[in-house]
Amino acid sequence: MIGFFVGTQMENKKILFVCLGNICRSPMAEGVFRQRAQDLHLDVSFDSAGTGGWHAGEAPDKRMQETGQGHGVDISDLRARQFSVSDFDAFDQIYVMDDSNLENVLKLARDANDRGKVKMLLNELYPREDMSVPDPYFGGQQGFEHVFDLLQRSAEKVLG
Ligand code: 4NP
Repeated sequence: MIGFFVGTQMENKKILFVCLGNICRSPMAEGVFRQRAQDLHLDVSFDSAGTGGWHAGEAPDKRMQETGQGHGVDISDLRARQFSVSDFDAFDQIYVMDDSNLENVLKLARDANDRGKVKMLLNELYPREDMSVPDPYFGGQQGFEHVFDLLQRSAEKVLG
């Protein structure tokens, strides 16, 4: 058969994950997807950003780092940055974690092409339900574990 399709639709794509602070959910998403892509030998690149800039330059929240470590995913090398309009040019797909991230990213979109790149991450797992990856920042350890589980299942769904 000619044109036999191997791998994922994500091959060669650049994917950005966006949350509020870029210190909990989106860097963990970046780390989980990065590791899964490496395991599957997929050529996909990842980055993450926050709609807010308060934590720019910081490493991920210790609690999120430790949760990742507990599952063998190291995100200690990542540093927070703020989302900017140039990200619409730099990335093929922009996954947001919740509806306020969605609103804030869409506010910066310049046209339908930009808007078309933005998607709620959990719609990959639960199509059209517009579910959020809950913000774990003000909660306990269980919230971080829940975030990790949602991200890992999303990565398996998206990347295989
Ligand atoms: P994230 O979590 O959006 O998943 O990185 C948060 C991090 C920091 C704050 C809120 C959420 N904050 O208010 O500083």
